[in-house]
Amino acid sequence: MQHLTVVDHPLVQHKLSIMRQKEVSTAGFRRLLREISLLLAYEVTRELELTTMHIETPMCEMEAPTLEGKKLALISILRAGNGLMDGILELIPGARVGFVGLYRDPETLKPVEYYCKVPRELDARMTIVVDPMLATGNSSVAAIDMLKERGAKNMRFLCLLAAPEGVERMRQAHPDVPIFTAALDDRLDDHGYIVPGLGDAGDRMFGTK
Ligand code: URA
Repeated sequence: MQHLTVVDHPLVQHKLSIMRQKEVSTAGFRRLLREISLLLAYEVTRELELTTMHIETPMCEMEAPTLEGKKLALISILRAGNGLMDGILELIPGARVGFVGLYRDPETLKPVEYYCKVPRELDARMTIVVDPMLATGNSSVAAIDMLKERGAKNMRFLCLLAAPEGVERMRQAHPDVPIFTAALDDRLDDHGYIVPGLGDAGDRMFGTK
């Protein structure tokens, strides 16, 4: 599987262009994020394994496709990951859910774990890590380190926007974790924000500043 997949479906691109606009309200941003997350979830779960089950339709019996194996794990990187996760859970309501919280140490500038609660048996589940913005890649790399320490093997990283810097950092640290994004933007600014981007994803989805 390729390391970076840009989901260039016209609906995704159209919704993203609206979300980027600074005048979009918190409610509008949240609604679009939910809609776009359904479309992204469709792509990121394309490789889920299928088996068959025996069912009876009103017409006849058949062997019908059904998902195989343990329920997948969705891991949100707090706090902005939650906005992306809500929509995915509508599509995959049986998914197991985990949270990883990291803050940036003001002296070392390195991510430090303050919270980690994840489903059991990660080694037997497809694990999708969600964070809307792949910027420097520091928190994503740290979160995936933590999940690998807890057994996760078959992972995907799902974001809305990615910066080339973050993609490269992930490619070096975790070449085995494919990235799915709605767009690969131009660059990071001096504060680590994605340009052209959409601003602070957490602030925009939660109405904080
Ligand atoms: N986090 C955000 O919310 N926005 C960016 O542009 C980069 C990181």
